[in-house]
Amino acid sequence: MVIGIKSEGKKMASDLQATLEVKNLKKSFLVGKTQIPILKGLDLKIGFGEFVVILGPSGCGKSTLLNTLLGLEEPTEGQVFVRGKNIYTMDEDRRAAFRRQKFGVVYQQPNWIRSLNVIENVAFPLNIAGVHHHIAFKKAKDILYLFKFDQYEKYYPMELSGGQQQKLAMCRALIANPWIVLADEPTGNLDTVTAEDLMYDLKVLNSESRRTIVMVTHNPEYERYATKLVYMEDGLIKRIKQIAKPIISHKEEEEVIDLAEGGLVQ
Ligand SMILES: Nc1ncnc2c1ncn2[C@@H]1O[C@H](COP(=O)(O)OP(=O)(O)OP(=O)(O)O)[C@@H](O)[C@H]1O
Ligand SMILES: [Mg+2]
Repeated sequence: MVIGIKSEGKKMASDLQATLEVKNLKKSFLVGKTQIPILKGLDLKIGFGEFVVILGPSGCGKSTLLNTLLGLEEPTEGQVFVRGKNIYTMDEDRRAAFRRQKFGVVYQQPNWIRSLNVIENVAFPLNIAGVHHHIAFKKAKDILYLFKFDQYEKYYPMELSGGQQQKLAMCRALIANPWIVLADEPTGNLDTVTAEDLMYDLKVLNSESRRTIVMVTHNPEYERYATKLVYMEDGLIKRIKQIAKPIISHKEEEEVIDLAEGGLVQ
């Protein structure tokens, strides 16, 4: 069922908005005097609330694709749409602000501001967005509590284990209540048990608070979490396997549930 058809009457499924869409996406990098093609024409549509898992050999362009989705790497050709907005029509400052509001990102190796403790690091994205520090701290506290991590709020990130740091990275990624969470091999440095724990958190986040998740991994074990599997090879999407039907819907249906309002139930 495609949510939105009923409430919008005449609107057809094909008119409804994807959360993320790339059209004929190409990206090459200039190395010396040569343009090296890395992404060679990708088309991908991601519906609201999907959990997309991207797999493919090292060097096939997975991280480049995520960077392009984030607005960090301008495509050589093609477009990236976030809820229908062509993000590369915005200037860099507006795109950066858009990225901070709408995307949460988790990398394999989190970057911390070492002089800040756990709660200060989590609150930081809101601080730089100009949110009053009392509100930023309150939100950071709520998120840490939701992830059962509040007991570590006074620690410094470097005093935490790899798995704990990834959990913390996820809290920080969620602080601005983003529409979309992008994760680039978030479990890459973790042991199996800790990695499963993080995957479980991501799944809960996806199903309970309706975040759209796009995750890159080398581990086929995590295919089972996906609603859509995307197999890349040599700068191209070789195969897309739709496991659960996406919700391509109109705006009313697309609101994510604010974490601070009990959107994440564990
Ligand atoms: N800024 C850049 N300048 C030149 N080449 C680049 C740049 N960024 C990425 N590349 C090249 O693009 C190719 C794809 O890189 P990318 O990081 O997207 O691969 P990946 O699929 O994420 O690999 P891995 O699984 O190892 O992380 C690589 O050959 C890389 O050298
Ligand atoms: Mg990569």
